[in-house]
Amino acid sequence: MTQTVERLNNSALDQMELASIDELRATQLKRLRWCLKHAYDNVPFYRHAFDGAGVHPEDVKSLADLGKLPFTTKADLRNHYPFGMFATPMSDIVRVHASSGTTGQPTVVGYTQRDIDIWADVVARSIRAAGGTRNDKVHVAYGYGLFTGGLGAHYGAERLGCTVIPMSGGQTEKQVQLIRDFEPDIIMVTPSYMLNIADEMERQGIDPHKLPLRAGIFGAEPWTGSMRTALEQRLGIDALDIYGLSEVMGPGVGMECLETKDGPTIWEDHFYPEIIDPVTGEALPDGEYGELVFTTLTKEALPVIRYRTRDLTRLLPGTARPMRRIDKITGRSDDMLIIRGVNVFPTQIEEQILKIERLSPHYEIEVSRQGNLDTMCVRVEACSNDVARDPIACEQLAGQLQHAIKTYVGISTRVDVCGVEEVMRSVGKAKRVKDLR
Ligand code: DLL
Repeated sequence: MTQTVERLNNSALDQMELASIDELRATQLKRLRWCLKHAYDNVPFYRHAFDGAGVHPEDVKSLADLGKLPFTTKADLRNHYPFGMFATPMSDIVRVHASSGTTGQPTVVGYTQRDIDIWADVVARSIRAAGGTRNDKVHVAYGYGLFTGGLGAHYGAERLGCTVIPMSGGQTEKQVQLIRDFEPDIIMVTPSYMLNIADEMERQGIDPHKLPLRAGIFGAEPWTGSMRTALEQRLGIDALDIYGLSEVMGPGVGMECLETKDGPTIWEDHFYPEIIDPVTGEALPDGEYGELVFTTLTKEALPVIRYRTRDLTRLLPGTARPMRRIDKITGRSDDMLIIRGVNVFPTQIEEQILKIERLSPHYEIEVSRQGNLDTMCVRVEACSNDVARDPIACEQLAGQLQHAIKTYVGISTRVDVCGVEEVMRSVGKAKRVKDLR
């Protein structure tokens, strides 16, 4: 009896997940007005930016008025490195994280205890949206440390009452050993690293379909619908998409619901989304593709106002929850390659690779310049070394992929089919593109 009651309570949604759109919008407006005042009063950058735009927080009387405010960019955070954008005294900051910063200086983010609590709540909500309950064991293979993935997932799983296995990224053989011995129900990891773990299971002769593992909570990098199908079939699990970014919180800004699997629901009671035209900055209506922009509604340590994520997607109406969803992220505007005038995202190449059975989803893209011409080469692993050693099969597979990319993406590429493990593996976010230009 107790167990039944517990299970029922456990699966109950947060009150805000059930709120009507009117209730939600009213809560958002109230929280937005608090956030703007908090940022204006405590962060010199925001005070200057708002004054410069001639808008005072008091002028924002509706959610639509948010459009009067200027954007915040990664460069703004970098320019105030390390703690210059914090809105609370250092004594109230209980944790910092930082993004890797491919261009040198990392972006530093901070959290008060209340921020950490809300983060744990939204990640717990996310795991529950994937069908998780306190009875589940959760294997966390996102990296622990300055990256938000590991600790973010960890605190959320604990908040839900799950048993956490804090494995972190790397040590792939050991990952497999623990999955075999501890029998987790859910794994949280980047989709590309999940593939490596699946390869290692195969190497060790473990059939993933015989394991109790039933769901994967995959994110931190773009991945396609075809990759979902590939992971689900290979592992016998539900593969669900978790979205987030450190500047806004970390993992758990949005999460796909198990019952619909139709793109992450944005937890709009804490993170207000907009889509803008990436070139003009004009706000676009729901349903149109553009750049995702977030305003935090409850964050104390690092409120961000109209933060430009560079992620390209569109906003869709709610389905499993009243809150809006995002479509799968096509890519970041920074990752877009322009090859002889055609815009290309690595996800478009991934889509084509996954259609060809004898190719594996391990690939990398090399872009170089020959004279004035951009050239692109896709290196992709064959599904086995037997195939890779057969020159006729390789040539045929390369031709097939070349043709598919030409037809569906619109560019000519070189394709190099290579042997198993010849493409560099990552233990976190995959690096798909080598740009030699
Ligand atoms: O990647 C937070 C995270 C950790 C999300 C674990 C999900 C799971 P950052 O390192 O700041 O934070 O990188 C954020 O990663 O702007 C997107 O470009 C990309 N990204 C994150 N989740 C997804 C996703 C974490 N589900 C950047 N689909 C974001 C596509 C994603 N891209």
